[in-house]
Amino acid sequence: MTTPDINNINNISSAEQTSAATPVGAPDVLLRAQAVSKYYGSEQENSVLVLDDITLDLRNDEFIALLGPSGSGKSTLLRILAGLVTPSRGEVLLHGAPLEGANPNVAIVFQNFALYPWLTVLENVELGLLAKELAPKEREQRALQAIDLIGLDGFESAYPRELSGGMKQRVGFARALVVEPEILFLDEPFSALDVLVAENLRHELLDLWLARKIPTRTILMVTHNINEAVQMADRLLVFGANPGRIRVELPGLPRDQRSQPGATSIREQLADTVYRIMTNPKADAQSLLPGVAPLRPPTPSPAPVPLPARVYQTLPHVSLDELAGFVERLYTLGGREDLYELARDLQMEADDLLPLAEAANLLGFADLDAGDVVLTNVGQRFAEADILEKKVIFRQQAQVGISILRQIVQDVAASPEHRLSEDTLLAALEHSFSVDEARRQLDTAIDWGRYAELFAYDDDAGEFYLED
Ligand SMILES: Nc1ncnc2c1ncn2[C@@H]1O[C@H](COP(=O)(O)OP(=O)(O)O)[C@@H](O)[C@H]1O
Ligand SMILES: [Mg+2]
Repeated sequence: MTTPDINNINNISSAEQTSAATPVGAPDVLLRAQAVSKYYGSEQENSVLVLDDITLDLRNDEFIALLGPSGSGKSTLLRILAGLVTPSRGEVLLHGAPLEGANPNVAIVFQNFALYPWLTVLENVELGLLAKELAPKEREQRALQAIDLIGLDGFESAYPRELSGGMKQRVGFARALVVEPEILFLDEPFSALDVLVAENLRHELLDLWLARKIPTRTILMVTHNINEAVQMADRLLVFGANPGRIRVELPGLPRDQRSQPGATSIREQLADTVYRIMTNPKADAQSLLPGVAPLRPPTPSPAPVPLPARVYQTLPHVSLDELAGFVERLYTLGGREDLYELARDLQMEADDLLPLAEAANLLGFADLDAGDVVLTNVGQRFAEADILEKKVIFRQQAQVGISILRQIVQDVAASPEHRLSEDTLLAALEHSFSVDEARRQLDTAIDWGRYAELFAYDDDAGEFYLED
């Protein structure tokens, strides 16, 4: 457990002293909430003050995280800034001009994906462009580009029900990014996802944004997850409730320290500070900044658990997002970690990490060595790769390492018109597995093979096929 470093946070300002604003007319302010208050309820007596005098600037090239208890008005503030709800007092300025109606420069990604189940991935993404008057062909092309960008290539014609949580949220991101928004709002976009899936999507989004592969210039993210905020944000705002207001603003860590292997203690310091503030909702945030003893008790060191000696060529049922998150976390921790420690770090059960370790091992991303998971060179390259490079590496490794994928590719290539019913494969799998497990094995193979773009799959017909 660490004590916050004073040097690290001497930059902190409380909302009472300075509002989270720059001088009016500053050129890099894209969007401003100017003294915004919001009441709900029409009768004066019954009205509830949900937001109290919020002033906040979103500037060029910054990622802001908004933390705070449920009901403190975070989502309401996003809606006001997006022009979907009008403030009771104060105003919203877009590039210095008062905002009227929906904010054309903003796109939002929601926690619950908000996909239409009866539309395909492509159609769901195209919805993002409905407000723009585009020819259908152009709309489709732009949607396909966004799908490609976000790693959904191969899933264009899939329906949401066929997708894992991580892939569903990729659709949510693609639908927001397809309009090439200047400003991106994220309302707890990772909180419905499994921890490693979330880890992977965070990395991917940051990569797209920091490497300027998307034109988005500022991101405002609501989150409950302190580590997530520390990992991603240039500025962290902690909200208080009743009424919703900015309790404190903290500068984020320098970007190179946010995911750098070995910089764990610096991240923990900032996370501790935020944690202290959030667990003391009534206290003056200022008094909680440096030098106060941390509240969390030290955790006892765990007994090591042995890994199973044998690794089967049985596909562990993990999604690629989880796998990528696993590899990335291992990389951040220095490339070698005791599985039990890793589980603790991720607040997961070691048992739940085993399938991930096995998958990483099958694909040649990691070796298992006496209870430790050790990243291989390929695994390291995979961790460092961007979305598209990851796909390429995965494809190469899967072709070599995963026999069922090799077999599907061969069989499909050899079949008339390059279409193959899944029934034969299923029957073959049932020699080695129970009927249910055979189905699960095949479903995992379909998911991996699609991601690797080794083949395409038609869910309605239950057929594999090859795209041109
Ligand atoms: N349309 C609405 N009508 C009345 N009250 C609302 C409405 N939307 C939100 N609220 C209330 O405003 C408060 C803040 O909600 P919200 O912005 O969703 O908070 P957060 O996102 O921080 O959890 C809550 O008490 C909520 O019940
Ligand atoms: Mg909310």
